[in-house]
Amino acid sequence: MKFFVDSAEIDEIRELAETGLVDGVTTNPSLIAKSGRDFTETIKEICSFVDGPVSAEVTSTDVDGMVEEGRKLADIAENVTIKVPLTWDGLKACRAITQGGTMVNVTLCFNANQALLAAKAGATFISPFIGRLDDIGLDGMDVIQEIRAIYDNYPDTLETEILVASIRSPNHVKLSALAGADVATVPPKVLRDLTKHPLTDKGLDAFLKDWKSTGQTIL
Ligand code: E4P
Repeated sequence: MKFFVDSAEIDEIRELAETGLVDGVTTNPSLIAKSGRDFTETIKEICSFVDGPVSAEVTSTDVDGMVEEGRKLADIAENVTIKVPLTWDGLKACRAITQGGTMVNVTLCFNANQALLAAKAGATFISPFIGRLDDIGLDGMDVIQEIRAIYDNYPDTLETEILVASIRSPNHVKLSALAGADVATVPPKVLRDLTKHPLTDKGLDAFLKDWKSTGQTIL
């Protein structure tokens, strides 16, 4: 499973990218607003050190506007992926933009039928928002499993990658991998939390204490 960083904070993305574990980045208008930075400059800077797909979201709601904004955003760098909402106009824009050779991430997906439509529209990625489904008392992972099963029924025609979005915890990451998702876009804190286990810290403390008692050094 690929890991994308779900953030528009340059320093955090850079620090995580240095681990070599980051395969791409997703942003959205809320994350750009939170960063307080210029949208185009932010995407340009992220693309200067991340080789994988970097999602930049359109804000028009009509097909022509989305396609035009998509073209402008795609000009920033080759790895820019245009994010369009899961509406009829968004699906039409998805078709037009992918036919032009640019990757498209169809966002704000909340059920399997929406994901089926996005795949038929040629989406490169579909972004089901699992955390927001959990927030309203549903189980977001059910939707991931359904989409996986549907896409797997038509491997020759549905090539869209399932990009699990709205991830809130390490458990979401594990369940995404178990469900066979292609990508998990993970907030920086959750990505860092993936290394954490109290027994790892406890075990390391004990090893270092015992090593010190030997008086030896490796170098
Ligand atoms: C990423 O592509 C999505 O926009 C993001 O994961 C949404 O996350 P949220 O539901 O925590 O805002």
